[in-house]
Amino acid sequence: MDLAIILDSNLSKSLHQQLYEQLRQAILSGRLAPGERIPSTRFLAKSLSISRFTVTTSYEQLLSEGYLETVKGAGTFVCQQIPDNLIELKPIECIEKSNASSIKLSQYGKTLADIENVPRISEPKLQINFRYGTPALSEFPIKIWRRLLSRYCNASFNWLDYSQEPNGYQPLREAIKRYLARCRAVNCEPEQILITNGTQQALDLILRLLIEPRETIAIENPGYLSARIIFETQQAQILPVSVDSSGLLVKELANQTEKNVRLVYVTPSHQFPTGAILSLPRRLELLNWAQQNGALIIEDDYDSEFRYGEKPIPALQGLDTSDSVLYIGTFSKVLFPSLRIGYLVLPRSLVAIFARAKWLSDRHLPILEQQALTDFIESGYLERHIRKMRSIYNQRRQTLVKAIKKHFGKRAQILGEKAGIHVMVRFKSSLSDEEIIKSAAKVGIGMMSAKPHYLTAHSRCEFIFGYGELTETQLTEGIRKLAEIMFR
Ligand SMILES: Cc1ncc(COP(=O)(O)O)c(C=O)c1O
Repeated sequence: MDLAIILDSNLSKSLHQQLYEQLRQAILSGRLAPGERIPSTRFLAKSLSISRFTVTTSYEQLLSEGYLETVKGAGTFVCQQIPDNLIELKPIECIEKSNASSIKLSQYGKTLADIENVPRISEPKLQINFRYGTPALSEFPIKIWRRLLSRYCNASFNWLDYSQEPNGYQPLREAIKRYLARCRAVNCEPEQILITNGTQQALDLILRLLIEPRETIAIENPGYLSARIIFETQQAQILPVSVDSSGLLVKELANQTEKNVRLVYVTPSHQFPTGAILSLPRRLELLNWAQQNGALIIEDDYDSEFRYGEKPIPALQGLDTSDSVLYIGTFSKVLFPSLRIGYLVLPRSLVAIFARAKWLSDRHLPILEQQALTDFIESGYLERHIRKMRSIYNQRRQTLVKAIKKHFGKRAQILGEKAGIHVMVRFKSSLSDEEIIKSAAKVGIGMMSAKPHYLTAHSRCEFIFGYGELTETQLTEGIRKLAEIMFR
């Protein structure tokens, strides 16, 4: 093992003292962990070009002070038990704060640091977590996926090099084009498709390439928080537009001509989080408005594959005749979120600049997963998986709805149950969202309030219930326990 140690023979301090201090510091700061083996005196002396005697003297001092220990026949190790009061490890939060005060952040960094509701990355493990978003991971056909990955992993070495296609593996773009034409009536050529690191990167690129600070972006209210944060960090003016049971109120948007809206972000297939499906007349009205006003529409089609008894309504992109729509899709819900593969369907005039930005940002997505995904789609596994999951989710959805009706009756209104893998529930309760979340956590239930997704103050008690990864027993049990704590 090489140790990053720098000794300076010009200093008045002896080499063995310098070595001792640097090793001690490495142990106290956690760079060398308890139990970690350190190099032999012979090896370290050679790699630092110093005498073995110097190294031995430093090691002996650290051994006598309890920082190191020797194990006969095995070597020298960092002591397992360094007294806690000596260890200088700081919690991440402290490190971030101290950095923030000493290193100046950009405007972007400052805005991001000030945003309160950045979704949590880690959360406590709870027995039954209604957290929204995760599909039923255990149903994923992992054996098929492994086979497809190893097919390309074994074939050649070419894919180890940089790809020449920042906009994505060509056969994958062709497969997605066919899939979108078949299932979503999206009208595009493979060249218009940019493979992205999920929806999140598609949004980030759109904002960076098309929006100036202080330009106005209209978003659904309530709407997808992770999209809004991207818009806010790019200094856009946010215009909230209400939604009802048929989706975005296009009239409300159209009445605000003075706001000069440049872009509108919508989730037409399954409005997030209310679950409304944007009706066909509203779709046409929205497209017409965009055309008249020279505005762009971001269509985030994140979970439209899961519909229950509803006829599919064609994507806005397929109805568009004026290059007004930027269509985003993702494999996070249909397959699994850590795949980090999504796609952005662009008007032709924007293809080259987006490919350039993608190359600059992260070159391209890993090739192996793109190749495996291509075969997964082309061999029919994707649509088979969707059919299977639709039936599983439908069952879970019905169980959840039944349990809510049984335990809450008129005290709960269920919204958006016709598609996706979540519903929103409006409760009649005297408790605050925070009180409900806290009491639920005490009995092992994870709850997600809809509040952070609102741009305007509101006092309704609304929660988002993801049911994708919960079994029917968990769903029934979770709702029963929830009713108990809410009406105790
Ligand atoms: C509205 C919406 N869009 C998109 C996504 C997916 O994002 P990504 O593709 O970055 O995983 C989600 C995931 O929760 C979502 O709720």
